[in-house]
Amino acid sequence: MTTRIHCLNPISEHGLKLLTEDYELTDKIEDASAVLVRSASMHEMELPENLEAIARAGAGVNNIPLDKCTEKGIVVFNTPGANANGVKELVIAGMLMAARDICGGIDWVRENKEDENICKDMEKSKKKFAGTEIQGKRLGVIGLGAIGVEVANAAAGLGMKVYGYDPFISVNGAWQLSCFVKHVTDLNKIFEKCDYITLHVPLLDSTRAMINKEALAKMKDGVVILNYARDLLVDDDDMLEALKSGKVHRYMTDFPNPKVTHMPGVIATPHLGASTVESEENCAEMAVKELMTYLETGSIRNS
Ligand code: MLT
Repeated sequence: MTTRIHCLNPISEHGLKLLTEDYELTDKIEDASAVLVRSASMHEMELPENLEAIARAGAGVNNIPLDKCTEKGIVVFNTPGANANGVKELVIAGMLMAARDICGGIDWVRENKEDENICKDMEKSKKKFAGTEIQGKRLGVIGLGAIGVEVANAAAGLGMKVYGYDPFISVNGAWQLSCFVKHVTDLNKIFEKCDYITLHVPLLDSTRAMINKEALAKMKDGVVILNYARDLLVDDDDMLEALKSGKVHRYMTDFPNPKVTHMPGVIATPHLGASTVESEENCAEMAVKELMTYLETGSIRNS
């Protein structure tokens, strides 16, 4: 008998084509033994009685009702690291866009594209859009999982001084993950020292609104915050105040929350971190392989 799998979101063909003849896709979740999901929220959904496993093609599992799954004995797993490179590249782009007014310059060219004197006026705009360099600046990486470590290593390669904080990793462990990171055990050190602070933690009770009024008050004036992880890690009301006062120079976020996006210091994208062909393929491949392994052998690596 074939095992039925329901895809809640479109998942890359690259992964789906790995399903062997023992599996078939079904449009009806109620007929499925397993679900493949990307970012769709499953919190309000009725979970079918015969559901055995949910494979999340991605890192965060906050779109899945974990307590309900535990109660019903449904195994949940994710694909850690599979999209780390895609997210890292967007974070580095974010850091460069925060330092240089790339977006302002692009907008200016678009607005003036019909002007035949644009090349002469360019001299004036050079001053207007002048930026800074990230080389030599201090970057604080909060969370040294697969993505945090990738970001730390890439930033070190660009000449940044990288500080890392992760309460679940020892100093030795952090050094083994990246010899470029200076590991700190007190988060306040990151807040107080760094010019750029990037978040790479999951959304948990302990991390919700971790960037709030108190944390922001400890930071350097003109700090740049990057949030390509989860929107609720940042308290948007407090961020708005910090942007208004100039405490935060730029807030680079992958969550276009209208509370802050009207501020000139905010550059937001619509959760594009893992939206690359490669990341989508990697996540789909890992999710499908792990799902088949679990359904066939009962063994799980990333639950
Ligand atoms: C993830 O959790 O893997 C990322 O946020 C990307 C995504 O959900 O699309």
